Amino acid sequence: MEPSASTSSGPDHAAIARFIEQQILSGSRALAGGAQSHVYVYVDPAGRYAVKIPRGNPLWGWVERWIIRRERSIYARLEGLPGIPRCHGLVDGRYLVLDYVEGESFRAAQTRLDPAHPFFEQLREIIEAVHARGVAHTDLKRKDNLLVQAGDTPCIVDFGAAMVRGGNPLSRGLFRIARQFDRNAWIKLKYDGYRNITPDDRAHLHRLGIERASHWIKRRLRHLRRALSKKKDRSR
Ligand SMILES: Nc1ncnc2c1ncn2[C@@H]1O[C@H](COP(=O)(O)OP(=O)(O)OP(=O)(O)O)[C@@H](O)[C@H]1O
Ligand SMILES: [Mg+2]
Repeated sequence: MEPSASTSSGPDHAAIARFIEQQILSGSRALAGGAQSHVYVYVDPAGRYAVKIPRGNPLWGWVERWIIRRERSIYARLEGLPGIPRCHGLVDGRYLVLDYVEGESFRAAQTRLDPAHPFFEQLREIIEAVHARGVAHTDLKRKDNLLVQAGDTPCIVDFGAAMVRGGNPLSRGLFRIARQFDRNAWIKLKYDGYRNITPDDRAHLHRLGIERASHWIKRRLRHLRRALSKKKDRSR
């Protein structure tokens, strides 16, 4: 194994590589696990870090590694932006090291954040700053990708599905669509749906056909699940 060189101010990459191997070998539970990755918390005297590692699928492990390397390059583009965790690079070409963000997921905190809360204006500014660097997140509707820090300030994670603006007209067109996805997601998070939106915010909402379709399918599935569980309760 060849851990990449650590930065002078960042954590020790070789120590992180040992830590991750030991976590995997001992089967320790990760902080979180998504479709393609696990996140472990690594602590050293200098700080606390979130280490995102690919799941290691034997068939498409190379795709996972490609995605995590791409995510690292996106964090590098966003370096220094408030509301985005600092990235300390990749260990062994596949473990992404980020500053650990103390806080809770938006999913847990949303009930106390009404649409007038300054949190949403701060979130809008972060999203616009990310766009200004040529990156669209595209997965902001997933409430776990948004963290609420002390003082109710937002922080965005998970740039695994992010889109980067390229130079050609097709890429620029796709980027504009992805940017609109993020703006729509902001409205959906702020209003917890698409109801009671102020006229000012509604002017920024341009839902795409694919968004409407996926919203409709999710609602139908939710109704179906509810109906099935009621039926099950009645038959007990
Ligand atoms: N820097 C961080 N600080 C604190 N918690 C984090 C950090 N990065 C990620 N997390 C937590 O870990 C969870 C999973 O991380 P992330 O969303 O990046 O991966 P994922 O959803 O598994 O990604 P993918 O969908 O690409 O598999 C997040 O929802 C968040 O709760
Ligand atoms: Mg995620």
